[in-house]
This record gives sequence, structure tokens and C-alpha cells, in this order.
Amino acid sequence: MSISAEAPIGLFDSGVGGLTVLRALEARLPREHTVYLGDTARVPYGTRSAEVVTRYAQLNARYLASQGIKALVVACNTVSAHALPALTKSLPMPVVGVIEAGAQAAVKATRGGSIAVLGTPGTIASGAYQSALKRLAPLAPVIARACPLFVPLAEEGWTDGDVPRLVAERYLGDLRRSGVDTVVLGCTHYPLLAKTIAEVVGPKVSVVDGAEATAEACAQILSARTMLRPESPKAATSRVICTDLPERFRGVAERFLGRKTGEVELVDLAMT
Ligand code: DGL
Repeated sequence: MSISAEAPIGLFDSGVGGLTVLRALEARLPREHTVYLGDTARVPYGTRSAEVVTRYAQLNARYLASQGIKALVVACNTVSAHALPALTKSLPMPVVGVIEAGAQAAVKATRGGSIAVLGTPGTIASGAYQSALKRLAPLAPVIARACPLFVPLAEEGWTDGDVPRLVAERYLGDLRRSGVDTVVLGCTHYPLLAKTIAEVVGPKVSVVDGAEATAEACAQILSARTMLRPESPKAATSRVICTDLPERFRGVAERFLGRKTGEVELVDLAMT
């Protein structure tokens, strides 16, 4: 089956986090149609086993494939850590993860100090960032830290104020005295709290994430396959889908995307 350049790019995450990647993708490839799936019925992924995350990831990917996507962006570090090879093997279209991009952004930003990777317990335990950083910058000292409470805070839309600040202080306060010069947000939910995280780690520390580099990787792959959508008088369309509570998702999503999403569709993946 041949896939048309007119087909949309699919993205998925456990919830709102991957919207940070969608935003970067829309900025880099404004002509492309997109379909975003947030698995709000099963969020969080980061505290679950690799087997369960892989099963959820396959459900999401199969659903997006059924929507006729031409490429899949795995806008979730936990899934990228546990299931990227399995997804790549099972899908006919190119699959782009976020970890390589995040590690590249960190290596670009560091000025010789330590790099702190923040991620979900699953991502940190998988060692995926630690390996990518070791390969890209063998001499850079790496500190890895799981910050699971950032995910429900982002889903709740609590991205600034006392509560996220206290949580961030508890997770990261010691990084101010640890020689860290770069923090990489190794969970796509965390950029929603980037301002709070930056305030806690202090002004000398660069806080980076892989969203832009992921969008660039996707652009390169589509360009190499001559699959970029050609110029068209028809504007790009953007569908947003979730697996539970679409109205709630829409409220948080519109805040983070800074634009209207239109109706957020609801899908039951068990029925597809
Ligand atoms: N946003 C996801 C990530 O990048 C998953 C967060 C979660 O569901 O725990 O890891």
C-alpha cells in the first residue's frame, strides 16, 4: 500500500505532554496535516512496566496507522525508551522517537558541566538517556532523576505557583550545588513546567528539551522520502483525539498550544 504525501503525521503520548512536540512540529512543518492522540484513559505511563507501556504503545500506534498516517512521532519519552524498536518493526511508516533528539539538545547546550536528565521512573530506569548521552558525549557526567509528580501536575494544568514549585524544589533543589550546567527535560510533559524548573535550578543552568530536534528529525525523514506535503491552497488540518474526558483535555490542550483545537474526538482503543 503506498502512502500519500497528503497523509497526516501521527503523534501520540499518554496525555497532554506530547502537545509540546506537536507545537514544535507545527512550527517546523506548518503545511503538514497532523493527528494527535493523547491516551488519557491510561495516563500515566511513566510508573508502569515496560511490558504494559509497550502494549499501550502498540494500541495507540495501530489506531493512528488506521487513520492513514504517513509517519509516526512517538511524542513520549517513556514509550521511546521501552518500545521504539517494537513500534518500528510493526509499522510500515517511519517512526521517530524523542530520546535521541533530547540527548542531542543536551549535548549541544552543555558547557562542560554535568548534564541532569529528568524523566519518568520508567525512562530513568531504562537507562535510554544515559546510553544516548554516553554515546554522544562520553566524558560528560550525567545525573538522572525521576520526577513522577510533574506528570499529574501538567495534566491538571498546574504549571506554576506554590505547588509545582515545592515539588520541583524537592526533586531538584540539590542540583544547584552539583555542577550541573544543563537540564534535559526527558519527559514531554515537563516542558509545561519549564519555567518553574528553570527557577528552581537557577539562571546559570540551561533547560532544554528534544521537541525541536524531534520535529527536525521528522522533517529530514519525510524530505529524504519526498513525502513532505506540497504547497497547497488548502490549509493544514489538525485533529486532536483522546481516550477519556475530551472536554477536559481540550481545555488544557488549548492553553498549551495557544490556539483552538476544535472538537477533541473521543476514541475507545479497546473497541478499534
Ligand atoms: N509524556 C510522557 C513521557 O515523555 C509520559 C508521562 C507519563 O505518562 O508518565 O515520558
